[in-house]
Amino acid sequence: MRQAGRYLPEYRELRAEKGGFLELVYDSEAAAEVTLQPIRRFGFDGAILFSDILIVPHALGQDLWFEAGEGPRLAPPLVDGVWQKLGSAHHHFDPVYRTVQLSRARLDEDVTMLGFIGSPWTVATYMVAGQGSKDQGVARALAYRDPAAFQSLVDAIEAASLEYLIGQIDAGVEAVQLFDSWAGSLSPDQFERWVIAPNARLAAVIHDARPGIPVIGFPKGAGAKLPAYARETGVDAIGVDETVDPIWIASELPDNMAVQGNLDPMLLLAGGEALDTQVRKICEAFASRPHIFNLGHGINKETPIAHVEQLLGVLRS
Ligand code: CP3
Repeated sequence: MRQAGRYLPEYRELRAEKGGFLELVYDSEAAAEVTLQPIRRFGFDGAILFSDILIVPHALGQDLWFEAGEGPRLAPPLVDGVWQKLGSAHHHFDPVYRTVQLSRARLDEDVTMLGFIGSPWTVATYMVAGQGSKDQGVARALAYRDPAAFQSLVDAIEAASLEYLIGQIDAGVEAVQLFDSWAGSLSPDQFERWVIAPNARLAAVIHDARPGIPVIGFPKGAGAKLPAYARETGVDAIGVDETVDPIWIASELPDNMAVQGNLDPMLLLAGGEALDTQVRKICEAFASRPHIFNLGHGINKETPIAHVEQLLGVLRS
């Protein structure tokens, strides 16, 4: 989760040198360097491609920039009808594929290279509102008001994301994660249509087109809907956020299903004995199934590096 984030001085330095976040993303050499930075420093088992979920709307023709201290902006916002004019610039993803190739070539063989996309619902929330929002209200209202139009937007994101995922795999990623960061804002029937259905289609096509590549689904905030997501999407592994009791979810999931998670990023920020205790509790809860230890969400940029080292000390002891 945002391994290559702002908590690393070497990241901040390279970002300042390149002039901004997107400049880094589209500079394959620099992006490969950022992908490798946390691996070099900490020796993690997996490296996640340095890019962003909003590269897909950018490829579909929306302007994209990041307002300092505020977050992403996309223009024009996709109010009624505008998405029919979305284009598709296939070569847009080429620098990211090059980043994957460079990163994979420079990683030790036993380090797994992970690719990702934002799931259609989550990406649509940004495309429709033109920015992030607390309750995804603009997208939720549109999905009720004009489901056919919203479906066509989801379909367009899904098609571009599939092309992009296959491209990442062919460039060298060994597993892919589907980030549905705003899955938690939907009512049960809307969750079925906009989260489960598109992620199930993505998982099925990836399994069919590139057999053997594991798909990790991360429906953040899904809570009680996690077991249904796990059963119905066909993903190989499920990412679990920090609000979920690891003992509960372990008892709800199919026996062999892999889990990823779910340390609270704020506990990593806080450190202390509570960190050690929770790390052990998570590992115990998931001891009888394949477990990718991870945070429940992105690392906070104020996280002391010493706390990441403390966490690794517990995991390796
Ligand atoms: O670990 C990694 O660095 C892997 C690459 C990665 C980034 N974003 C880099 C990034 C991944 C996997 C993402 C996913 C992403 N991006 C999600 C899904 C996961 C989640 O966090 O819920 C979402 C919703 C986004 C959209 C996005 N990108 C936001 C809301 C922001 C924060 C904007 C801000 O200024 O606060 C970003 C920027 C971003 N993406 C950064 C990084 C390292 C920080 C950029 C910087 O300021 O240097």
